[in-house]
Amino acid sequence: MSGAVQYDKVRAIEWRDGAIHLLDQRVLPSVVRYEVCRDAGQVAAAITGMVVRGAPAIGVTAAYGAVLAATSAFAAAGPQWRAAMAPDMERLRRSRPTAVNLHWALVRMEEVMAHLGPQDPTAAMTAAAARLHADDIEANRRMGALGAALLPAGARLLTHCNTGALATGGYGTALGVVRAAAAGNGVAAVYADETRPWLQGARLTAWELVTEGLPATILADGAAGALLKRGDIDAVLVGADRIAANGDTANKIGTYGLAVLARHHGVPFYVVAPTSTIDRACADGSQIPIEERDPLEVLAFCGVRHSPEQAQAWNPVFDVTPAELIDALITEAGVVEHPRAPGIAALFDRVTPR
Ligand code: MRU
Repeated sequence: MSGAVQYDKVRAIEWRDGAIHLLDQRVLPSVVRYEVCRDAGQVAAAITGMVVRGAPAIGVTAAYGAVLAATSAFAAAGPQWRAAMAPDMERLRRSRPTAVNLHWALVRMEEVMAHLGPQDPTAAMTAAAARLHADDIEANRRMGALGAALLPAGARLLTHCNTGALATGGYGTALGVVRAAAAGNGVAAVYADETRPWLQGARLTAWELVTEGLPATILADGAAGALLKRGDIDAVLVGADRIAANGDTANKIGTYGLAVLARHHGVPFYVVAPTSTIDRACADGSQIPIEERDPLEVLAFCGVRHSPEQAQAWNPVFDVTPAELIDALITEAGVVEHPRAPGIAALFDRVTPR
């Protein structure tokens, strides 16, 4: 596929009439509905409950959440709005632990707040959140172009979780590379791991691909090894929730296993993430906090319990892939082959501070 098609139809986050409208990712693809958040508490609950998910999307949503927090604080406390919004900021900060984009976005908003006076901060903060949102889409497009350049024409790709427009401000990270490759030299096949237990691949990635008219083949997570062994995959593309300074990468549970399989079968394994996902304060992957969610996500399927009542479950929702298993890190500031601390640090010389 080539030509003028941009494969960019999906948006999950909209700021409209002083509220955040979130495409509800808990019920896609069978139901397409928006949840409207009008205060920061609702935003934090939407992040925790995964109405919105995906590291950059969480960051963009939290930035708009900070706007809502500031507006309420100004209504309640006038010139003392900054102190009054602290509890809401803390609630947003704690809404999910692994995706560092959440903290990154709130720090960006605090930097903007630091330059504001005692008057109503709403307009300035809305503009800052919208800029952060637009910058994320622009970064994704840049990563898309850089990543697509690494792929053969008519590439056969394997991806994990959902890293598309739903997981970001728009366009996507790893799925942005798929979109750019499709618009450029074409893609022959896109395989999406179903991504147990929450089914981000089977529900969300497949929905995005089908919505764009792109090929979509879903496989059980456990089938990835057999697929790679067949020699039918040119590259594995994944996103990231937090990348340590040395390149160790936390991403959706199952990513580590996929990286081991890709290395075993000699298939390039690419991590696609904006620099806002790199946590330079984290020396290596052992310092990345890994979220564990409700065991029922594993013990039940679509709300129906299928496992014995006496059985327990371990449900870490992210794992850490060691840097040595990553062939390249694709960011908006450039591609780092065989990512290690010096190459990752050098990326920040090319990031324009806002
Ligand atoms: O638990 P989720 O669905 O928020 O996890 C999302 C992922 O792990 C994505 O792969 C990651 O955030 C990168 S998305 C651009």
